[in-house]
Amino acid sequence: MKLIKDLSQREFDRVEELLTKMTLDEKIGQLNQPNLFDDKAALGDLVREGKVGSLVLAYSALAGTESRKSQLGFRQELQRIAIEESPSGIPILFGRDVIHGHRTVFPIPLMQAHSWNVDLVEKASSTAAKEAIADDIHWTFAPMMDIARDPRWGRIIEGFGEDPHLASEMAVAMIKGFQSAGIAACAKHFVAYGASEGGRDYNTTEVSDYTLRNIYLPPFAASVRAGVLTVMASFNDISGEAVTGSRRLLTGLLKEELGFEGFVVSDWDAVGQLIRQGAAADRRAAAAIAINAGIDMDMVSNCFIDHLPELVKDGTVSESRLNDAVRRVLLVKSAVGLLDLPDNRTPMQAPVYELNVQLAHDAAASGMVLLKNEFELLPLPVQEKKIALLGQFLNEQRSMLGSWTLDGRAEDVQVFEECMKQTAPELIFINAASGSADAAVEAAIQADVVIVALGEDWNNTGEARGHAGLLLPDEQLDLLCAVNNVNKNIVSVIFSGRPLIFDEVSQLSKAVLYAGHSGTAAASAAASILFGLNDPCGKLSVTFPRNAGQIPIYYNQRSAGRDIDNYYGKAVFKNYQDCEDSPMYPFGYGLQYTTYEYGKPEINKVDNTICVSVDITNTGKRTGIETVQCYASYPASEFVRPIRELKQFHRVSLNPGETKKVEFNIEINDLAYFAPDGKLIHSKGKYVFWIGGCSTVTESVTIDI
Ligand code: GLC
Repeated sequence: MKLIKDLSQREFDRVEELLTKMTLDEKIGQLNQPNLFDDKAALGDLVREGKVGSLVLAYSALAGTESRKSQLGFRQELQRIAIEESPSGIPILFGRDVIHGHRTVFPIPLMQAHSWNVDLVEKASSTAAKEAIADDIHWTFAPMMDIARDPRWGRIIEGFGEDPHLASEMAVAMIKGFQSAGIAACAKHFVAYGASEGGRDYNTTEVSDYTLRNIYLPPFAASVRAGVLTVMASFNDISGEAVTGSRRLLTGLLKEELGFEGFVVSDWDAVGQLIRQGAAADRRAAAAIAINAGIDMDMVSNCFIDHLPELVKDGTVSESRLNDAVRRVLLVKSAVGLLDLPDNRTPMQAPVYELNVQLAHDAAASGMVLLKNEFELLPLPVQEKKIALLGQFLNEQRSMLGSWTLDGRAEDVQVFEECMKQTAPELIFINAASGSADAAVEAAIQADVVIVALGEDWNNTGEARGHAGLLLPDEQLDLLCAVNNVNKNIVSVIFSGRPLIFDEVSQLSKAVLYAGHSGTAAASAAASILFGLNDPCGKLSVTFPRNAGQIPIYYNQRSAGRDIDNYYGKAVFKNYQDCEDSPMYPFGYGLQYTTYEYGKPEINKVDNTICVSVDITNTGKRTGIETVQCYASYPASEFVRPIRELKQFHRVSLNPGETKKVEFNIEINDLAYFAPDGKLIHSKGKYVFWIGGCSTVTESVTIDI
């Protein structure tokens, strides 16, 4: 596979030659993307008529919750028809939501972000791509990089949290992983979908250009620089401007200002939904508005295929705009090799997968976050203790995979109870055989330590899965409470997706491991952390509130005039009369089985680079991997800036007693920010750099620039 910029002149010329030969209908056919549906003959006819440029391999708008297979055999026949019987003979681009794994399922993207482990994320995405290619999938609708500050929004699990820099690093890692293995990636959802008001999916957003450019746009800018081949436009409007119909955003900002050379696909039926959105009078208008805005491919609405012929003929849509859209699609097809298929192509057979369990385990362990560990209850000893294993997630399989798992299978998923017993076979495990609360209490009475496996049902997260309340289910909290009455040595292991309110769980447990929806090997990863075979090293990529009433609460909030900033400590003014103001767990937070000591940071400036360094020593008894984070606070400027903003991070492995110097080289340009009109502003004055293992660290160093 190639990036657009790496295509040869011959490949560019081939696309131009195709364009000169294609009829109007053939061109429009390349911009049409129906979904899989059950009437195979009808779909075959559409392909034969040249009306299918791409196929979204999903049967419903909620592909995140369906698990219908993608019909490899039938697709081979469709591809044969496209090549041999359609007017242009151009192959179909098969796209599917390979979000966080294909048959081997990795952690949901939010958990991958908690790992801050860019290399591992790239490796996992590369593995997912190879498995998808074996299924004849050419294009994945991932990575989703919507900045999210509201855990009520079900799709917070699908992105990389609240910080633009971390989200950019994660998005680029996934794009490299997918595209280096040979499938086209898709930066989505352009743009600011995560700002949906009230955490209500698909809702309107109020985002200023200032916030758009400095918070929501950076991951997309990074993705374009990384050569992402496609972008998906978002459902939402931004302060009244429907993104799917916005020329300013899709052409002006994305294609012209950021220089995006691939193609833009609408989201599912989003072109047709311009009508309900009040941005188009009818489907004909919707087609014209969308393509003239910069949508190149119409997912599922059929507005393009139904109305573009007359719109081009009457000049509402120019030939040049049509050709531009088709050219972009054909260049991507060329980049993924579809225009170079062998003539005597033999239909692909169903792949036989060997799960990459070790990589799934490593990815899962890397993203899990230790939230509490009183009296160093963890890691557990592997012998001499009696352990009670309890909780509704003890034998759960499907939910471990999380939402957006279309090709993973629940039966492949490890079972936590079994993994615990396999990891420490010498231990005496006491089970609450009947599963009743009384049996659980009975087991807890006999045990030295109680492991309670809790979690969030996978189908309560993801698309169209908003939650006003963020508590674990009553029956889970009731069990925890009952057990706590007879045994205080509780380790709560939480297999959830979105940030939930863990206040009560934390009060009732001596240790809390946020194990998350971490995929095929979530259970073995959690067990290996509990017994210390893996050391917890995850750091939160999103703030965990104490109370849903605090939402939105995020670390990179702007400074207010009055001192109300309780995120980083006690402010003059309380935020709420009825709630502790600080977050339950801040951005960048995560405990380990070892401890670190940070020296005094040092700083100097070399040309246009600020060099910040710090010595870090492992003061504990175990080797650890610390994610050292570097945040900046800014001098006064034309626009109010965030109190702190992540600039760089490094993952550092340290043996007990070992000291390493960690250096951050920050280009002065990276300290600039965008004015609403896109002008880059460099502020002069005192910069403060905060270095440590969490966003709330107090160690800092200053420099005047
Ligand atoms: C959905 C989602 C989008 C997904 C697409 C195809 O509505 O919004 O993220 O890729 O449809 O399933």
